Amino acid sequence: MALHGDNVPARHSPGRREGNPFLGLANPALENEIIPPLNTLSQHPVPPEVAYQLVHDELLLDGSARLNLATFVTTWMEPQAHQLMAESVDKNMIDKDEYPQTAAIENRCVAILADLWHAPEADVATGCSTTGSSEACMLAGMALKRRWAARTGADPSRKPNLVMGANVQVCWEKFCRYWDVEPRLVPVEGDRLHLGAEQAVAHCDENTIGVVAILGSTFDGSYEPVADIAAALDELAASGGPDVPIHVDGASGGMIAPFLDPDLVWDFRLPRVASINTSGHKYGLVYPGVGWAIWRDADALPKELVFNVNYLGGDMPTFALNFSRPGSEVIAQYYTFFRLGFEGYVAVQQASRDVATWLAGEVEKLGPYRLITRGDQLPVFAFTTSDDVTEWDVFAVSRGLREHGWQVPAYTFPQDRTDLAVLRIVCRHGFSRDLADLFLHDLTSVTTTLQKDVAKVGSSGPTSFHH
Ligand SMILES: Cc1ncc(COP(=O)(O)O)c(C=O)c1O
Repeated sequence: MALHGDNVPARHSPGRREGNPFLGLANPALENEIIPPLNTLSQHPVPPEVAYQLVHDELLLDGSARLNLATFVTTWMEPQAHQLMAESVDKNMIDKDEYPQTAAIENRCVAILADLWHAPEADVATGCSTTGSSEACMLAGMALKRRWAARTGADPSRKPNLVMGANVQVCWEKFCRYWDVEPRLVPVEGDRLHLGAEQAVAHCDENTIGVVAILGSTFDGSYEPVADIAAALDELAASGGPDVPIHVDGASGGMIAPFLDPDLVWDFRLPRVASINTSGHKYGLVYPGVGWAIWRDADALPKELVFNVNYLGGDMPTFALNFSRPGSEVIAQYYTFFRLGFEGYVAVQQASRDVATWLAGEVEKLGPYRLITRGDQLPVFAFTTSDDVTEWDVFAVSRGLREHGWQVPAYTFPQDRTDLAVLRIVCRHGFSRDLADLFLHDLTSVTTTLQKDVAKVGSSGPTSFHH
């Protein structure tokens, strides 16, 4: 077997190998002499141990997922979940006839979510798994567009629009561009950093396919007032205006509110809510990528969007953008539902909210920061520098925290509040109170250093770095 193919350049002369006592298939000395393929395939195979070790070593350069306070996505699962995922990694979710039990498990998850979100007929729930919320939002958006076309007649001169806050996640702008829908972005304004009921209604007209309400906002973790938006749209319809359905983007909050805010009415209890999505891989507590889209009932999902394929055996209805996809995440979702039950989810999500609200309070106490949100809706909070801080900014803090291994994004709010730059902390399962304490220690140290540097150097103005 050749280890050095024609296009596998040696970093050192092979002659050195003789004198190296560590020579073997998977050791650093051998790997020193092989460069992984960058742009073209290598000519020859390498032993699996070598390929494994080199790829593994490169990945050491990634940040630590557990210290990534930027992501909403699950970074820790139990060994039993790892085991189940490894056992099912070879199952294609689409092969429902070959893997009927995986398909049955997917259906159980759909029913569980429909029940959790108070769908009127959860036992005959209408929904599907997806690769994440983005795909779920595309499917829900397509259903809204089809229903609007059916309501208004297929008049090609009419251009459909979708009303949503300027704070929506990029998947909604993608939906609008890919499916030729006008994005009606309601600007954020002053201290209103997400969609308001009055503003949503003011942007609706006969061509509005729906209003997207977010639970909660990616920018700061705040819940949008879904019930108020629904009430305002009810009034609009009652006064002879258009009858506009709501889609709730519960990418994160769809798996927080049912457990921590049972009295908050945001889901199918509101008759105007036609569909809801969530990311199983966020507060659903599963590794990426799994998401869910659930419709109020079969009528909310136009039949022509569902394809029936027979070449997998059986006659299988599918509603998805892609075809093949791993079944392991869906199985991991079911494992987590089964493992935690309602009480388990309450305990895990409450622990994240407790860490978030505690940490937000401690950050506020540091002095030079002002909280935008307090972690009491999503376990997520955003903060900015207080008005008297003029010599450094949130971007410098983000850089400083990276030196301690923490990844905390700094970014500006959307149009009309781009003057507001914040840091955002996502508290997830696995970010324990102990880790939060260590984080606070590092944030304190970064803040003190920035303040001292300013005192030493004098005014140098804020950093020009923008995330
Ligand atoms: C509100 C909201 N919607 C949709 C998405 C997209 O989710 P996914 O990453 O699961 O595709 C996100 C991701 O952060 C989000 O916060």
